[in-house]
Amino acid sequence: MADELDEELRDDNGFDAESPSVRPIANDPHPFAHPAEQEFATFLDFYRIRWQYEPTSFPLRWKEGRITEMFSPDFYLPEQDLYVELTTMKQSLVTRKNRKMRELRELYPDINVVLIYRKNYHELLSRFGYGSVDITSLRPDQIERVLLSSTEIQQRVAELGREISNDYAGHSIVLVGVLKGITFFLADLGRAITRPLAIDYLQLSHDVEQGGVRISKDVDLDIQDQHVLLVEDIVNTGVSMNVVLNSLLERHPASLRVCALLDKAERRLVPVEVGYVGFTIPNEFVVGYGLDYRELYRNLPFICVLKRQVYEADASLIELHGTAVVSNDR
Ligand code: IMP
Ligand code: MG
Repeated sequence: MADELDEELRDDNGFDAESPSVRPIANDPHPFAHPAEQEFATFLDFYRIRWQYEPTSFPLRWKEGRITEMFSPDFYLPEQDLYVELTTMKQSLVTRKNRKMRELRELYPDINVVLIYRKNYHELLSRFGYGSVDITSLRPDQIERVLLSSTEIQQRVAELGREISNDYAGHSIVLVGVLKGITFFLADLGRAITRPLAIDYLQLSHDVEQGGVRISKDVDLDIQDQHVLLVEDIVNTGVSMNVVLNSLLERHPASLRVCALLDKAERRLVPVEVGYVGFTIPNEFVVGYGLDYRELYRNLPFICVLKRQVYEADASLIELHGTAVVSNDR
């Protein structure tokens, strides 16, 4: 709604004053032109649909080589490659908006754009609105933003599965997962791999006093002469992974590689070779898709960044060179 008509439209869009104005949970606060946009952003967040607010302005009219009219659709949904324009305004003003939409489509036939009318918008919210479902597991006071949406994760996991299946052609694999953060990644990755495979787990405990990491539950299978793929949720300093790799190598596997969903590469203290990386991420504490903060958030289908003040104020997290690491149970 940020075209040059907006000032006029904003004052007169007829959106109910009592309509909920909910702060978006997962994206940074935006200077939304209207509460309906803010509400729509919250709605998209709830469904883990990535969005950008007014990222593009399309010139519509020119005079003497100067742009005299622009149109900036309210939202762009990168995963759907779709622009969304909300018209929650009065019917009397919709005609002008329709004219702009028509011109936009004529001038830029390759872009996908939809116009959501006031009536459809309310229908959408009442049928699928975030208000109708109770998401007690997402606390706005703890969650900063969505880092990786469910769609992004699923696509990447499928790619990793294909890559691994190709690389291990003609071989069977032993997938070794490090509990407990690996729960969902291992389940999804395992199903994306088309080679025969066995699954085993080990668990670590972090000895806070001695600053060390030890294996508290070892693998059950005999991995000698097996092609072992160690699957990790996240590699941070590499300290944990180094302990695991050394321990597995003592058992003389035929080969040993690592697949990590997330890599905080800039935090590395111990060099470890990670053959397959899902995503390289910035140095922030993340939760979801198996990863926890105090055992919470593992069941989120997407990955979020925890607010810095939450983990920095938490004594149960060790500050490890700027990155918090859960001290005991993973
Ligand atoms: P490292 O030994 O420093 O590489 O730490 C790796 C382990 O720390 C991971 O397997 C996780 O259990 C935990 N960890 C590190 N960063 C995060 C995070 O951002 N969220 C949740 N757990 C984390
Ligand atoms: Mg953990």
